[in-house]
Amino acid sequence: MVFEGLKVYRGDDNKLRLFRPMLNMNRMASSAKKACLPAFDQPEFLECIRRLVEIDQDWVPHSYNASLYIRPTFISTEQSLGVKKPCRALLYVIMCLAGTYFNTNAASLWADPKYIRAWKGGTGDCKMGGNYGCSLFALDEAVDNGCQQVLWLYGDDHQITEAGTMNVFLFWINEDGEEELATPPLDGIILPGVTRQSILDLTRNWGEFKVSERYLTMSQLCSALKQQRVKEMFGSGTACMICPIRHIAYNGQVRNLSNIILGFKKTSVEVEVSTQGFYSSKSVKVLISKLLKV
Ligand SMILES: Cc1ncc(COP(=O)(O)O)c(C=O)c1O
Repeated sequence: MVFEGLKVYRGDDNKLRLFRPMLNMNRMASSAKKACLPAFDQPEFLECIRRLVEIDQDWVPHSYNASLYIRPTFISTEQSLGVKKPCRALLYVIMCLAGTYFNTNAASLWADPKYIRAWKGGTGDCKMGGNYGCSLFALDEAVDNGCQQVLWLYGDDHQITEAGTMNVFLFWINEDGEEELATPPLDGIILPGVTRQSILDLTRNWGEFKVSERYLTMSQLCSALKQQRVKEMFGSGTACMICPIRHIAYNGQVRNLSNIILGFKKTSVEVEVSTQGFYSSKSVKVLISKLLKV
């Protein structure tokens, strides 16, 4: 089973817009390939979603904080219990209303290296059901310990990979004294988030600081926190857009980041982003969270 997650927003002008939906179509096609599900016509599928949204347009909230969540899903319908490449499959879409993701404005994370979300040669770069099912046990432990999400680590050096179902960004003064916005590279264990890509595109376009896709370890983060070089850490994803990280429980200690949450000011602004394949190929104004330096 593979799936996608995207939202349709109602703008101030009452127009409905999807956010860079072709990126979701492309990601779904590569997830399907890894699950041995058949190839599908991506623009055609997007057109089906567009029609569905058009039919159900009254469900899209007239609210700044809410949207209609779209869940394209692709499952095998093979009539056999054997483990084999399916000959039959079903591609369908469900939708539901979506509000704010977390109750608080900032997330608390539980980082325990005994749990691994994804590994090299696996399916961590796909939106595949199994990745999420096996994450629940660790999430349960995080919640039992007063945290909202798991900070997924990888390898003996405790590389920071993802936060719950979000990509993760660190805005800091790096080891070379440079102001840098860093996020782990797409090396097979990171989901290529649409929001992640958009943040990279936007901040590279601003040209205000170094923007890197690079490895980050817990020990680098801990020393940077100690030396007050961390300006902000946040997760990114369709569900929450930008979610500041409030604290991280790691190695029996709670690393508090709440005093630096104001290092960046989160504000929603209208940003011109070029989209493909929805409401014509014109560049449209879409609502996304833009990080503004205070
Ligand atoms: C594991 C994981 N990482 C990151 C993301 C963020 O991706 P996107 O920005 O496309 O929502 C998601 C959500 O789909 C996810 O499930």
